[in-house]
Amino acid sequence: MFHDLPDKLWLGTWLKFYFSKKYLAPYIPTPIHVIQDILKTIPLKDNDVVYDLGSGDGRTLIEIAKLNPTITGYGYEIDKELCQIAKQHIHHFKFENRLHILQQDIMESNLKNATIVFLYLSEKGNQTLTQKLQSEFHGIVCSYYFPLFPNSECHHTSKDNVPFYLHHLGQKKE
Ligand SMILES: C[S@@+](CC[C@H](N)C(=O)[O-])C[C@H]1O[C@@H](n2cnc3c(N)ncnc32)[C@H](O)[C@@H]1O
Repeated sequence: MFHDLPDKLWLGTWLKFYFSKKYLAPYIPTPIHVIQDILKTIPLKDNDVVYDLGSGDGRTLIEIAKLNPTITGYGYEIDKELCQIAKQHIHHFKFENRLHILQQDIMESNLKNATIVFLYLSEKGNQTLTQKLQSEFHGIVCSYYFPLFPNSECHHTSKDNVPFYLHHLGQKKE
């Protein structure tokens, strides 16, 4: 389902990442088996509201939605073409009632309703987001590959041994 995307799209996001301050990461999809592995560690609960900040082709939200029918998800993605692709994927899996893609800058997102936030950005991206997360968000943040806070829990994917970081911010929502 999740096909390789055109080279033009990949290259475009790399160029924008280097030349535009708004872009907090280029597009690099997380392999599906890595997402599935990470999700074994995250304590997902009924009615969680999951945000993927920089949601790419929607794969993380889709893998989460497959696990629990009560979870809703919001993907913030700056790239118009990736938003369209993510919406097609969501349509394919019939998750339109639960998963929503917004073509919007992460920095303009409203995190107050989120219970879990996923990130796969860059060092620069995580640094840029730190203050916003601390002031707006209470819950679990999972950052793939790039650390977020010095005292975050560090885990590794079992197959590839790639790091991902979990951090509980503020009071956990029940
Ligand atoms: C490394 S990719 C991760 C994609 C997806 N989360 C995954 O794991 O497969 C980072 C994504 O963040 C998006 N992005 C970068 N800066 C952004 C911003 N300021 N607002 C929204 N999305 C952004 C990029 O276009 C890219 O799709």
